[in-house]
Amino acid sequence: MNKNDIEKVLITKEELATRVRELGEQITEDFKGEELVVVCVLRGSIIFFSDLIREINLDMQIDFMVLSSYGDSANSSGHVVVKQDLACDIKGKNVLVVEDIVDSGRTIKRLREILNDRDPKSLKIVTLLDKPSRREVEVNTDYTGMSIPDEFVVGFGLDYAQHYRNMKEICVLSPKVYN
Ligand code: IMP
Ligand code: MG
Repeated sequence: MNKNDIEKVLITKEELATRVRELGEQITEDFKGEELVVVCVLRGSIIFFSDLIREINLDMQIDFMVLSSYGDSANSSGHVVVKQDLACDIKGKNVLVVEDIVDSGRTIKRLREILNDRDPKSLKIVTLLDKPSRREVEVNTDYTGMSIPDEFVVGFGLDYAQHYRNMKEICVLSPKVYN
């Protein structure tokens, strides 16, 4: 990991903390009196997930899912496969899926189909980041942290080729790294 790989900081620690708190408050309000199963989509969501669940003041279970989409490191192919499934049965449960970023939309679209087939009571998606200009399939998320321009970002859980996940800010990766 090299400092020169980073073009600029896009979202600071403080901005992230504020937005995560707001999302947590909104989710707490929307699900008042209900229980949740909060699903972390590994690995990119891990930091957002661990901050967000502590801002949600509701009874919850947490669970994890690993998806893989065949493609190179900067693009998903849209062929999304479950590599590790949930441990719990979500039938009749309120499910909140926590994603890091919606890009083409293919991952979320497929994930919605997979989880809806299991008859949850409700299924909502929260994504930290959204790149609307990159959308290839129509999807809707229920909660979005921030919309960002079409730039490849890393940090706060997001990676390029598995690097940079531990950076505290969301940063724009210098295109020379992947070009
Ligand atoms: P989609 O299926 O094209 O919407 O892709 C979503 C997945 O692509 C995310 O969960 C990320 O793993 C990855 N991804 C898309 N854009 C970025 C980015 O700017 N930085 C890091 N990962 C990204
Ligand atoms: Mg990724």
